[in-house]
Amino acid sequence: MLKETGYVTLDTGFVNTASCTSAITYIDGDAGILRYRGYPIDQLAGKASFLETSYLLIYGELPTADQLAEFDSRVRKHTLLHEEMRQFFGGFPRDAHPMAVLSSAVSALSTFYQDALDPFNPEDVEISTVRLLAKVPTIASYAYKKSIGQPMLYPDNNLGYVENFLRMTFGVPTEDYEIDPVVAQVLDMLLVLHADHEQNCSTSTVRLVGSSHANLFASVSAGVNALFGPLHGGANEAVLTMLNGIHANGGDVNAFVERVKKKEPGVKLMGFGHRVYKNYDPRAAIVKQAARDVLERTGGNDPLLELAMKLEEIALADDFFISRKLYPNVDFYTGLIYKAMGFPTKMFTVLFALGRLPGWIAQWREMINDPATKIGRPRQLYTGSPERAFVPITER
Ligand code: ACO
Repeated sequence: MLKETGYVTLDTGFVNTASCTSAITYIDGDAGILRYRGYPIDQLAGKASFLETSYLLIYGELPTADQLAEFDSRVRKHTLLHEEMRQFFGGFPRDAHPMAVLSSAVSALSTFYQDALDPFNPEDVEISTVRLLAKVPTIASYAYKKSIGQPMLYPDNNLGYVENFLRMTFGVPTEDYEIDPVVAQVLDMLLVLHADHEQNCSTSTVRLVGSSHANLFASVSAGVNALFGPLHGGANEAVLTMLNGIHANGGDVNAFVERVKKKEPGVKLMGFGHRVYKNYDPRAAIVKQAARDVLERTGGNDPLLELAMKLEEIALADDFFISRKLYPNVDFYTGLIYKAMGFPTKMFTVLFALGRLPGWIAQWREMINDPATKIGRPRQLYTGSPERAFVPITER
């Protein structure tokens, strides 16, 4: 539409509008390609640790062994939460969703670290980066402990990033917690798979909020909220709810697919479809294999895995899904793995947030350092009433 100021483009959902340039992540949705800083995802998954991948995303290059050791040690030093912050958790209802607790706690970090919030001071940005990476796992495990009424465990900085998180989540003060190395390794890999995905809803939110020069904690907390929704990060939780529902109704996968095809309100094949991938999500293939490995390891013969595989098989051969290019996305199988690891459904999206954190940080830093960045301020096409005269309340 031509306005006095020029053309305004209507692109609801930003289907074909780029909001920025970025050198972090490359996706070719038709070919099913995902690369972080040029490295294909299948070469990073299982080979680079989550902290190594975080370093790559945030600083642009893979770290040397010394650089990684130094980064790891800086992160370990900041895993404790401020003691007063621990009290927050007592104030939330016990059945609060841990994503809501996480976003509130991340937002609250700007109240505890007011001395280092300047988005244009590189030292402030650096310490905030480390604080976020270090404290989010602690916050996440405290949110979980609160929900089950168990005491919170202080971090143990002798442990690696994921091991520490597992211990704080599943350990109890009265017993030693034995970390299963396979569980730790798979969880680390899942975090790598989630670490960035260019301008998705939550990352775009982090950039948009940050474009007003809001600090890193405020911007990331907005990203956590954006991730909460079932069409984005909440999909992993929604997949399990869907599978449980099908199982409870006798496991008739075909009947469920028919409901999806009839587009019954609220009935979608969760974990399928993607705005950008019109081919198999390269992360989903890796996750599917990991789901088999973890279930074998934990000895769990989860009937929901059978249901998921049947659903996939039917959908991939059905014209409804083929013609719309709907394939499994990263979240189709992750929930089954998290469940086998012992996480309750409500924690699934929190695990996604843990993984996506370095991506949000890297994108925020790129945005703030890009001289081309302007405050994000989309236009609209007004469809409301033309000008009319005010009517006093007594005459309405
Ligand atoms: N089940 C059934 N039909 C679907 C699904 C699905 N999962 N996804 C899309 N469709 C259909 C739509 O009804 C639409 O059909 P139509 O052309 O007849 O109207 C067509 O496919 C195109 O779908 P859109 O909703 O227009 O695609 P969009 O790019 O806007 O949405 C999204 C992408 C939100 C991911 C969608 O596929 C979806 O809701 N999937 C289920 C939720 C999910 O798994 N989200 C996780 C995404 S990945 C992530 O955030 C990690």
